[in-house]
Amino acid sequence: MTSLSWTEELTLHQPQIDQTHQEFVDLLDELDRTLKNAPNDCNSALPVYRRFLEHTEAHFAMEEGFMAATGFAADNCHSKQHAMVLDVMRQVMAHTLAEQDLEPMRNLVPELANWLPAHVDMMDAALVFHMNQLGFDPVTGTMSHAPAPAAEAISSCGSNSCSS
Ligand SMILES: [Fe+2]
Ligand SMILES: [Fe+2]
Repeated sequence: MTSLSWTEELTLHQPQIDQTHQEFVDLLDELDRTLKNAPNDCNSALPVYRRFLEHTEAHFAMEEGFMAATGFAADNCHSKQHAMVLDVMRQVMAHTLAEQDLEPMRNLVPELANWLPAHVDMMDAALVFHMNQLGFDPVTGTMSHAPAPAAEAISSCGSNSCSS
């Protein structure tokens, strides 16, 4: 087990996002176990890492789709944090492929185990709160309390701790 396991505290009561976060936790745990079972075997770690990276790309794209549908500007700070995480994950992939060295990947596992709960608690929770306020249904894309057409795009992540 990584230091990250699924708990009630990670639940935001938004089925698509909760399911995706649960899968993130499972994939991170699978990567951790793979790296511990075969510490120097890139051939076993890389397919797991690739699945995890692809899942994270889809995870962030899904949330950014919800943001776009509910009035966030494309360069809001939640999306920027996603982009930073993906950049690091892609750099680790490139390093592993080029150097056959798993050290950065090993270092990334606890970093992501720490990162996810903080991100969920701050940015994803604020997104879900915003979606709920608008009555946004991610399945149909409809809103029961749509903002006025003249409303400005939102550039912060919507959490209290965000000052941008
Ligand atoms: Fe998320
Ligand atoms: Fe997010």
